[in-house]
Amino acid sequence: MAPTIRPATEADQLTIRRLIKEAGINRMSLQWPNFVVAEDGGAIVGIGQVKTHGDGSRELASIAVIPARQSEGIGAAIINSLLTREQGVVHLTCRSQLQGYYERFGFRRLDPPEFPRYFRRMIPIINVVARLVGTQILVMRREAN
Ligand SMILES: CC(C)(COP(=O)(O)OP(=O)(O)OC[C@H]1O[C@@H](n2cnc3c(N)ncnc32)[C@H](O)[C@@H]1OP(=O)(O)O)[C@@H](O)C(=O)NCCC(=O)NCCS
Repeated sequence: MAPTIRPATEADQLTIRRLIKEAGINRMSLQWPNFVVAEDGGAIVGIGQVKTHGDGSRELASIAVIPARQSEGIGAAIINSLLTREQGVVHLTCRSQLQGYYERFGFRRLDPPEFPRYFRRMIPIINVVARLVGTQILVMRREAN
């Protein structure tokens, strides 16, 4: 059966932190009120959030599905659930390998001059490290509805 996508609760906070750690993605800003979780038979099999930056802009982030359940459409269900609530512009950052994946949801890769200010300073520094492990971090945008 397909997992249920529901808003996270405070009881999910530790699981959110654990899944992010296991997925090896950014561990900052993991407040449960911003998350939805995919739950199946009482177990959380995937998570994701939209977080708000100081300037009010919104970022899709922390999308993670447990390895045993990847490629079943759970990531897509989490992303669609988060995006249906977003009327305005949404950004994300991702490894270059995932550009095609996020294009399916209406995101477009930005050139550096188009980056919002909060990414402009950070991304070049992150990419010095990313290059060492053979990847690149992209910034993508989905326009307002
Ligand atoms: C990326 C992720 C969230 C996708 O979730 P999912 O439930 O497996 O994805 P879906 O079932 O919706 O879609 C599967 C498709 O996504 C694409 N995809 C998934 N992971 C990918 C990767 N690492 N590189 C390139 N494409 C990928 C593929 O096209 C895949 O299709 P396939 O199964 O036929 O190969 C999941 O792989 C994951 O948790 N990865 C580790 C954490 C991570 O990298 N998160 C993204 C941070 S930006």
